[in-house]
Amino acid sequence: MHQSLRIWHPFTNSRLDLPPLQVERAEGVYLYTKDKKKILDAISSWWVNLHGHGNPRIAAAIAEQAKKLEHVILAGFTHDAAEELARRLRKWVAPALTHLFFSDDGSTAVEVALKMAVQHFSNEERGEKREIVALEHGYHGDTAGAMSVSDDSPFTEPFAAMRYPVHRVHAAYCYRCPVGLERETCYIECAQQLETLLAERADKIAAVIVEPLLQGAGGMIVHPAEFLQKVRALCTQNDVLLIADEVLTGFGRTGKMFACDVAGVVPDLMCLSKGITGGFLPMGVTLCTDRVEAAFRSEDRQHTFYHGHSYTGNALACAAANASLQIFEDEPVFDRLATIARIHAERLQELREFAVVGDTRQIGSIGALELRAEDAGYLSAMRPKLYQFFLERGVLLRPLGNVVYILPPYVISAGELHHVYDVIVEAIQTLF
Ligand SMILES: Cc1ncc(COP(=O)(O)O)c(C=O)c1O
Repeated sequence: MHQSLRIWHPFTNSRLDLPPLQVERAEGVYLYTKDKKKILDAISSWWVNLHGHGNPRIAAAIAEQAKKLEHVILAGFTHDAAEELARRLRKWVAPALTHLFFSDDGSTAVEVALKMAVQHFSNEERGEKREIVALEHGYHGDTAGAMSVSDDSPFTEPFAAMRYPVHRVHAAYCYRCPVGLERETCYIECAQQLETLLAERADKIAAVIVEPLLQGAGGMIVHPAEFLQKVRALCTQNDVLLIADEVLTGFGRTGKMFACDVAGVVPDLMCLSKGITGGFLPMGVTLCTDRVEAAFRSEDRQHTFYHGHSYTGNALACAAANASLQIFEDEPVFDRLATIARIHAERLQELREFAVVGDTRQIGSIGALELRAEDAGYLSAMRPKLYQFFLERGVLLRPLGNVVYILPPYVISAGELHHVYDVIVEAIQTLF
């Protein structure tokens, strides 16, 4: 018998992957391990951290909140921290988004959006509009509904029977254009598949879900803004709701507060999580327009949205989110983002010179390079080699197969970001 239960780590093969590193503490962009290693977290700990690990303002806000109210059921009750967060978010999100529904993480924010969209039409006595359209290469989370709208991948393969059917249409993956065109001369013809589908079936379709401008886990694929604008226009023309999954892109990642702002698009529903608490505590939020919510304002109890999680609207997570948004107001966060973006642009340009680099992509604080590989994809043999190489040099980068990306906390210094790129250059020169 073992002395303690053994922790089963996420996305980890206990036979093939390295044993977990024991992190004792973290500060700024660095993780400090028990065996005295200092590791630069260049992926913001799965894309959640914004203002640095151990940010004292967020830590203090959580501690203060814990002394007052740690948590209370949100059905039939509310509290100051949640109300304050609703007020603060009002300043940042498009005016058309009027309602906010709390959940626990990115996956549940997506589940909520999908269920809201379907029940919206059901409450309007248009229950036949219940199908969902999603993009190739999309990733929306690991729960059953989120997995259904995510594209087929090694993550979903064993669960085919649990995934409900969705319509899958092209994404604007310009490096591997699904319709064989070049971005310089195309007219976003990849959106025609969606156009045709909606023309034929909009009376059966409730919503289109997209990761706006950036498909993350699918390979850090950056879309032209015109693609998102076209999707928005098609949804509007066909009376289909647009769900923007901003779980990754939200809170500055793409250079503006939300990716939809970069494209000048307003979705009908928007999913937020990850950076919402600055990376301190789990929280999901789904926003929707008044029109979506209006279908739930009813004398009929069956029209209620019967969805909720035990920790919905957790007061500590709300306090962390409020402190993070205060940092956006007080500190030059967007200047930091601009510096990161400038360095990405400069260094990615340089990386294009290497034959193994097939494509480089960038949006805001995220830089990525797709390496040429015969086994391209998440299970590419390049991945473990690169991961280990980077870690041995004290940098946490977790390539998505043959795609290496840098997604740092916003407080990374210019010197530190250059160092990350230097290590990538060294990896390319050493391994390929
Ligand atoms: C775009 C997007 N949606 C949803 C999710 C799922 O979020 P979570 O892991 O918090 O459930 C992720 C996670 O990476 C994501 O990138």
